[in-house]
Amino acid sequence: MDQAISRHAQAASAGTSDGPAYQSGFGNEFATEALPGALPVGQNSPQRAPYGLYAEQISGTAFTAPRAANRRTWCYRIRPGAVHEPFYRIDNGRVASTFDAPATPPNQLRWNPLPIPERPTDFVDGLVTMAGQGDPAAMSGCGIHMYLANLSMRDRFFYNADGEMLLVPQQGRLRLATEMGRLEVAPLEIAVVPRGVRFRVELPDGASRGYVCENYGALFRLPDLGPLGSNGLANPRDFLAPVAAYEDREGDFELTAKFLGNLWSARIGHSPLDVVAWHGNYTPYKYDLRRFNTIGSISFDHPDPSIFLVLQAPSDTPGVDTIDFVIFPPRILAMEHTFRPPWYHRNVASEFMGLIHGVYDAKAEGFVPGGASLHNCFTGHGPDAETYARAVQADTSKPQYIRDTMAFMFETRLPIRPTRFALEASELQADYARCWQGLAKHFDPDRP
Ligand SMILES: [Fe+2]
Repeated sequence: MDQAISRHAQAASAGTSDGPAYQSGFGNEFATEALPGALPVGQNSPQRAPYGLYAEQISGTAFTAPRAANRRTWCYRIRPGAVHEPFYRIDNGRVASTFDAPATPPNQLRWNPLPIPERPTDFVDGLVTMAGQGDPAAMSGCGIHMYLANLSMRDRFFYNADGEMLLVPQQGRLRLATEMGRLEVAPLEIAVVPRGVRFRVELPDGASRGYVCENYGALFRLPDLGPLGSNGLANPRDFLAPVAAYEDREGDFELTAKFLGNLWSARIGHSPLDVVAWHGNYTPYKYDLRRFNTIGSISFDHPDPSIFLVLQAPSDTPGVDTIDFVIFPPRILAMEHTFRPPWYHRNVASEFMGLIHGVYDAKAEGFVPGGASLHNCFTGHGPDAETYARAVQADTSKPQYIRDTMAFMFETRLPIRPTRFALEASELQADYARCWQGLAKHFDPDRP
């Protein structure tokens, strides 16, 4: 591909020769330039920007948002973002942003992995909406999608005005070429692309599958740590933002937008990834889930799963998140005289789970990498019968090592409504609820 990635950006690389360079930190005020002197000093909007560039601000929060929550980035680019032809509607494919088509059952739901198509399919065409809630027009709720793709985007670019996109690859790496620079994201890593930021997805490994949480509401942030102290869980320095890397490329290209639940396209005569320098804190970022500092009990009982919280999207109600992104990583269980798997529960929150790798410790079988489950508001669930039988017999005087696993959960405040596609998919497991039917009665009033 004819890409004019700046040699200066490559020379500035702090990364390895086989991957892009990054800047470290969560929500930092980054400053980066792919050409020396491209970033104005001391002001944001000079009368004439260096190199003949245009200055453009992209704001991700209200101008008046509190400083700690305020997100915006100043871009110095070859052409402003307004330079493109008018948008026209394109087919939404299997993308949905309304979730009221079928009645949502209170059943436990679980899906086998959806197949990756044989026909050439890029990231945008490969998006399949599984579930969601709320409304992008109200900037509240989320969409939950899979991507099933095999074709790199080349002359097509995408942005999502409806929400930031949390990408969870399960198979195949993602190379994200964005306005702020390039990120490479492999399974066991995640990336977040902010609302409105234009990007292209390349698939260096071909057939690729992953999960997407499209956050319509307040931006993901790191949770407070409370009594844990100043370190632990996902540490800020492990989040990586790109360095400036621009394309000076002209041709007959397509800019696709997701706006108010629909897909639109516009012709564009140049690559919109033409930002030569930028500064600010509104940027795509990536995070390696293996860097998560997992906290657990070293006495008894299993803590609430909020100890596994990576990122949270807060709601207007203090302490109640619109979305919690939670992982179940490798860990050591040390709790004595304790039922060590997750306990049985019925929660006000709703849980969409996926498995990236290995085996999930509460489900002996049936939940496989690339699959998904949905346990909605107050739907009872927990370990299957086989896992229960093993856990109550386990020797808890010794630590238990859970090594080969990485599951995650999009946990939400509002009930999650599956799409008609998800409820009618052949991958929906008709017999899922049977995994609890073997939980026999052990109660005997004569044996305390
Ligand atoms: Fe649960």
